[in-house]
Parts: sequence; structure tokens; C-alpha cells
Amino acid sequence: MHQIKAVFNGNFDYIENIKISPFSRAYTFSDSVYEVIPFHNKKSISYEKHIDRLQRSADALSISLDIKKVSDEINQLLSSLDFDNGYVYYQVTRGQDLIRSHMHSDQLETETFGYITQCSFETKKFNVMICEDTRWCRCDIKSTSLLANVMNMNNAKLQNCDEIIMHKQGTLTEGGASNLFFIKDKNVCTPALSNNILPGITRSILIDALQEKNIKVIEDNFNYLELKTATSAWLTSSTKGIAPIENIVNIDNSLSIDDPLFVSCKEIFESKFFS
Ligand SMILES: Cc1ncc(COP(=O)(O)O)c(C=O)c1O
Repeated sequence: MHQIKAVFNGNFDYIENIKISPFSRAYTFSDSVYEVIPFHNKKSISYEKHIDRLQRSADALSISLDIKKVSDEINQLLSSLDFDNGYVYYQVTRGQDLIRSHMHSDQLETETFGYITQCSFETKKFNVMICEDTRWCRCDIKSTSLLANVMNMNNAKLQNCDEIIMHKQGTLTEGGASNLFFIKDKNVCTPALSNNILPGITRSILIDALQEKNIKVIEDNFNYLELKTATSAWLTSSTKGIAPIENIVNIDNSLSIDDPLFVSCKEIFESKFFS
């Protein structure tokens, strides 16, 4: 079995040797934030943007963080690579409490955990299901509290879907683990950032790359029924890159993965993402 290299509270070891207290607040309350930092040909992608977002997520929950130490550990994991493509997962938890209590002690030591693993970045076509966004109102924080995503995505799996597209009272938000783009009336559209959406790094790379080529991206509030007349739609994330949606199983649609504007967007994105 391939052994996964990891780091827990500053100690590097293989994942099976790491011991975590059940009183870790990651375990009892999901009181943690995390990042997924992709690398391609042994080179990290948008490293600074991921580190900045980790700091912002920790700040939002008032979890103290030594970002230089975190960055050194991530770099050490990256320098120990024996494969070309993959990602580093890094989680920052408020710490271990002596008793389980919603109100945490003020003397906690931040707990950190990271590991490095392989990922192919092969483009895969997705079947998706639309569902109500039942998550909390701070989805802009990259927290490990992902139970609504887990429930909705596993319901979608029962319908042979790979992902979901969520809406809050009709307004499109994002995928279960990705951001959403679609083409409507020959325009590239994506839900505008808000507290209900994670500001995806891949989303921002794509928008910047398209704007450099004078392709306008409309960031706005869209009703999910607008996807019925979209000509193409796709999801973005650090591990999926751009993943075209082949079918939305629970609304009528005529999405095409050969839409010429989508094909251009994908080419522009890939030349930037993997450069
Ligand atoms: C809910 C959600 N939205 C969007 C994204 C995409 O973010 P990024 O492009 O930074 O990977 C993710 C990534 O895991 C996610 O979990």
C-alpha cells in the first residue's frame, strides 16, 4: 500500500502513525478550517492564494495560526514528493479541550494536520443533481463542517450523480465541492460571491484568465431554472480543474460539452492553471 506522508502538530510521519485525541475540537465540533493546495509537475498552483484563504478562514473563526510555520510544513511535504501531480490537504483545528464544551477554553493550542496525496487532474464529465442548499450562512469560510454537503452529495450518488448544484430559495450558489459556471445567451455566467459561496481559487484563476482574453464573466444572482436554457455548464475546483457537466438529472436541459465558448474557456484555463 502506498504510504501517505503527513504532519501532525509539527511532527512528520506516515499517516497510520498519527494519533489524534477524541477531545480534538475537529472531532467533537468540526471546529477547524482547511485548504487543498494542488501541485502539477511537482509545482504548486496558486500557493499564495491558498495560504491567504487559510489565514482568512482561521481569522473568521478566531483560531490563532502561525502561518509561517504552516507554510514551512506544507513546503516540506511538497519537497518530499515521489509523484508529480496531487495535492496537500492542510487542516487547522482550534485545539484539544479537556472537556467537551461548545464554549472553548481560552488556553487552547492550535492543532495542525497535513498530508500529501496523488491526484491525476484528468478531465471527467459530470452528471449532477440540483438540490436545495441546506448549509449554514458562512460558506465563504473553508471549514470542515461539511455535513449538508455530505448529505446532499450522497443523495445525488443514489441517482448516479458525481456532484450537486445547490440553490438557496431558487438562487444558485455552488457545487458540493466546486464552483459553478454556465453559458447563457453566449455569456459566461457564475454566481456572485457572497456568504453562501466559497471564493474558489480555481474560480478566480478562470475569471482572471478569461478577462485577460477579453471574455467577460457575468457574476450575478441567477435562478436555477436559468440552467434549463444554458448551452453549457461546468464546475471548477483545485482537484477537478474544469469539469464539464454532461447532464443535470432533475431538470430539462440541453447542455453540451462541445459548446465552442466552453471549449475556448477550457483551453484558456488550462494554459494558465498548468503553466
Ligand atoms: C464548497 C466548495 N466550493 C468551491 C470549491 C472550489 O474551491 P477551489 O477552487 O479553491 O478548490 C470547493 C473546493 O473544495 C468547495 O468545497
